[in-house]
Amino acid sequence: MSQAIRLYETGGPEVLKFEHVEVGEPGSGQARVRHSYIAVNFIDIYHRTGYYPLALPSGLGSDAIGVVEAVGPGVTDVRVGDRVGYLMGPQGAYSDVRVMPADVLIPLPDGVSDRTASTLIMKGMTAQYLFRQVYPLKGGETILYHAAAGGVGLIACQWARALGVTMIGTVSSDEKAEIAKANGCTHTIVTSRENIAERVRELTDGKGVPVVFDSVGKDTLQASLDSLQVRGTLVSNGTSSGPVVLDALTLALKGSIWVTRPAMAHYAKPRAHMLSMAQELFDLVLAGKITSEPKQTFALKDAAQAHRMLESRQTAGATVLVP
Ligand SMILES: NC(=O)c1ccc[n+]([C@@H]2O[C@H](COP(=O)([O-])OP(=O)(O)OC[C@H]3O[C@@H](n4cnc5c(N)ncnc54)[C@H](OP(=O)(O)O)[C@@H]3O)[C@@H](O)[C@H]2O)c1
Repeated sequence: MSQAIRLYETGGPEVLKFEHVEVGEPGSGQARVRHSYIAVNFIDIYHRTGYYPLALPSGLGSDAIGVVEAVGPGVTDVRVGDRVGYLMGPQGAYSDVRVMPADVLIPLPDGVSDRTASTLIMKGMTAQYLFRQVYPLKGGETILYHAAAGGVGLIACQWARALGVTMIGTVSSDEKAEIAKANGCTHTIVTSRENIAERVRELTDGKGVPVVFDSVGKDTLQASLDSLQVRGTLVSNGTSSGPVVLDALTLALKGSIWVTRPAMAHYAKPRAHMLSMAQELFDLVLAGKITSEPKQTFALKDAAQAHRMLESRQTAGATVLVP
């Protein structure tokens, strides 16, 4: 029997049920993947709470690492024995083994361990698309990046350093500030005691930044707008603290601000492009420019505890589940 986290209703972490499930043979275009690590991402909390709608009952999770142990008819993208990771496809990564579409599987290079890869696929490819596609950074810019010590954040810190970008990163504690700086964040703002926009103006000689990457949402929206240069860009890429509500006039009054609310699904397609995004990430890892290991590890059955830690801001870096 296989094991999986299932949801029958949305709500708090207690709705995550650890169950035995049947996993069959892969059908046409499908592969069966046995997981070694499952990545926990904030988006899993949006699904669990119902903020992002799910058809129930459902599995949970969209990001895991494992080995292909069977493929169905017509599969050409992967072979049995391939080490793979994924960040798209149906919910259900919180499981020890699953059947899923083969065309979302990303083969892992030899020099990247499963453990490292478990921190990279969703989180590193998010950094890739934010910095290389949504707002392509050239090097030399100063940017404001919220939740710099988070899962995506620690990879973003290292990616910014590799690009020659000055990153001002927000964090909630001095301990997280140290972690962000150790990963390449140039300046940190500790939000529990510092005013974000005032510090950004100080650090940029009053100019403000050309771009803010804001995954926190509701709590940081005003500070983000107040930190931008005229005609700057707000990349609203998450809502860890709650939804963002914006009217167009505010954007004019704050300096003709550009806003985008990007989603991975619109940037990591088609498959060839998704693989090239992954390759760019793996190349940085293989070159030693990005190093990453999970900072919090839980058993699959303890997924609820992992969620409690993540949503109460007690984690830094990546959180993983082990089946
Ligand atoms: N658009 C996309 O395609 C995409 C893809 C991946 C991730 N994301 C977004 O990127 C963000 C980071 O994801 P992640 O999985 O790496 O999570 P994470 O950054 O490890 O965790 C969230 C962090 O956000 C900060 N935070 C600030 N206010 C918070 C609040 N009220 N509740 C909880 N956390 C709060 C906390 O850092 P401090 O304690 O330092 O404040 C917390 O550690 C999420 O918002 C996620 O939805 C978006």
